[in-house]
Amino acid sequence: MKAIILAGGSGERFWPLSNSKTPKQFLKLFSDKTLIRETYERMCYKMEPKDIFIITSEKYQQLTMKEIPEIPKENIILEPIPRNTAPACMIGTLTAQDDEIVTILPADHYIPDKSKFWDTLSKAIQGAQELDGLFTLGITPTRPETGYGYIEAGKPINNSTYKVNSFKEKPDPEKARTFLSKGNFYWNSGIFVWEKSIFLEQMKKHSSDIYNKLINISPWDTENLRKIMPTVEKISIDYALLERSDKVYVVKADFVWSDVGNWVSVRELQGYSDNNENVEVINGRNVFVKSDKFVGIVGLSNIIVIEGENGILITKEEHSQDVRKISEKLKKMG
Ligand code: GDD
Ligand code: MG
Repeated sequence: MKAIILAGGSGERFWPLSNSKTPKQFLKLFSDKTLIRETYERMCYKMEPKDIFIITSEKYQQLTMKEIPEIPKENIILEPIPRNTAPACMIGTLTAQDDEIVTILPADHYIPDKSKFWDTLSKAIQGAQELDGLFTLGITPTRPETGYGYIEAGKPINNSTYKVNSFKEKPDPEKARTFLSKGNFYWNSGIFVWEKSIFLEQMKKHSSDIYNKLINISPWDTENLRKIMPTVEKISIDYALLERSDKVYVVKADFVWSDVGNWVSVRELQGYSDNNENVEVINGRNVFVKSDKFVGIVGLSNIIVIEGENGILITKEEHSQDVRKISEKLKKMG
């Protein structure tokens, strides 16, 4: 089996800690290790390093090598320009043998329990070996989140695996509420398992342009990728393949998972800072603070205060999605 870690995203909702030079996967949010390092170690729990690949932008090559110095150089695959996850999944899958299983993983998720993670992943690997299908890991949804893909489970295959009836990426709020109320919908975790030959067959059928442009390329041929990537469609694998294929399966994920979308998700996992030693809150409550300095908060509740090398963020929780506007503004200012 090959594991392909997708690490080319440029999420900017974690300013002032992240920016386009250090996106979320390179942040230490929950331990003294970055999210990409945690993802790599999660895979090393049961795999040989030689079978673990990271696909990322050329501009993140140095950072990736610094985070995971022990990874063989050829296991970092470089994209000259980001084209979202469909081309990245295609290039990553091309590292495998025809009948080999490939697991695709986002680099920036929080999954604390390696052993439970592998229990679920093993079921998907077994499924992909036995059935001709694209396997997803489904998370039981808890709110009508519009930033995820929704997987409609159909006929059961066994007690944890279902054939998928439909897949809808990033629905509008009304659809998300309907899906949530039905009971047989899961969030797409963004972790996929497939056999190379089935994936290629399905890409050829449903995303033939990406397939044709990349099928004869070697993942290590950066020169050729530089020529071809600008002509490849920028689209995520969710739209390019999972919404279109009728060979999708879902395995119910039985592990704690968060895609850590913004500062509120970090607060949800770490708790409020109201009683921390270096935080004093007067006439307020439910604050989340990350700072090396002593922080005093008077008369404010439900706020987030983050101090980083590049600046200080102060926001109300309900506006934490808009933090990316600060990164955008700073980018424009150069
Ligand atoms: N190599 C490479 N190239 N990696 C990329 C690129 C790219 O162009 N674009 C994004 N990535 C990486 C990101 O770094 C991240 O690890 C992963 O691919 C997923 O990309 P996101 O941009 O974070 O996707 P999303 O969160 O909007 O949506 C996906 O994940 C959700 C769960 O977190 C979808 O798969 C949803 O369906 C899913 O629910
Ligand atoms: Mg994401």
